Amino acid sequence: MNSKEVKETPHIKPNGVEIAETILLPGDPYRAKFIAETFLENPVLFNDVRGMLGYTGEYKGKKVSVMGTGMGSPSMAIYSWELINVFGVKNLIRIGSCGAMQKDIKLYDLIFAMGAATNSNYAHQWNLPGQFPLTASFELLEKAKKVADEKNYKVHIGNVLSSDVFYNADETATEKWANMGILAEEMETTSLYMNAASAGVKALTILTVSDHMITHEQTTQEERQTAFTQMVEIALNMVGS
Ligand code: ADE
Repeated sequence: MNSKEVKETPHIKPNGVEIAETILLPGDPYRAKFIAETFLENPVLFNDVRGMLGYTGEYKGKKVSVMGTGMGSPSMAIYSWELINVFGVKNLIRIGSCGAMQKDIKLYDLIFAMGAATNSNYAHQWNLPGQFPLTASFELLEKAKKVADEKNYKVHIGNVLSSDVFYNADETATEKWANMGILAEEMETTSLYMNAASAGVKALTILTVSDHMITHEQTTQEERQTAFTQMVEIALNMVGS
């Protein structure tokens, strides 16, 4: 597919509105709307196919887009593939929630997914002669850490589990992953990091802890807002740096 000729896909129809080279990707499309309306200057809607809202605006004079991805790697796979391979997006920053797997990680803590373990078969399609390590772009990770340090936000950086399963029939799974030092579980990084790697573009997953898989504590929707704002601030300030 030629990115110069194709101006829309089955899932993204921008009607001529530009999609920026850097995009923030929350799972929830209403989060995308909130970010666009709260943090961006001159936000313009570029997608509402299936309600997967996407906007392009400016932050400190730089163009940036924000769009929902839905839940799970298959949904992230479709949107990130089209954004990268059809619309030429180069920097993809997922901002999402996760379930913590370590006792020293608390509700609302921030996590940068330097790497991801996975139980997904998504990488199978590349027929690689071995396992492929899912890793963040070091450049994006370094920028995110710098912004977090400047703002005095504490972050955990390490491996997460990018899972295809939210309700797991195997009750021993969490403990096994936790014993390997996995910080938290989320569900979208597998396809994001694989698609980015295969196209030679940059991706990073930034997460807020919304629930604890060991202590079973949960956050409320309202309480999540502060931690969510910190994630958005980190991602947006990476754009200008
Ligand atoms: N997103 C938020 N909490 C999660 C969990 N416990 N597992 C997977 N994804 C999540």
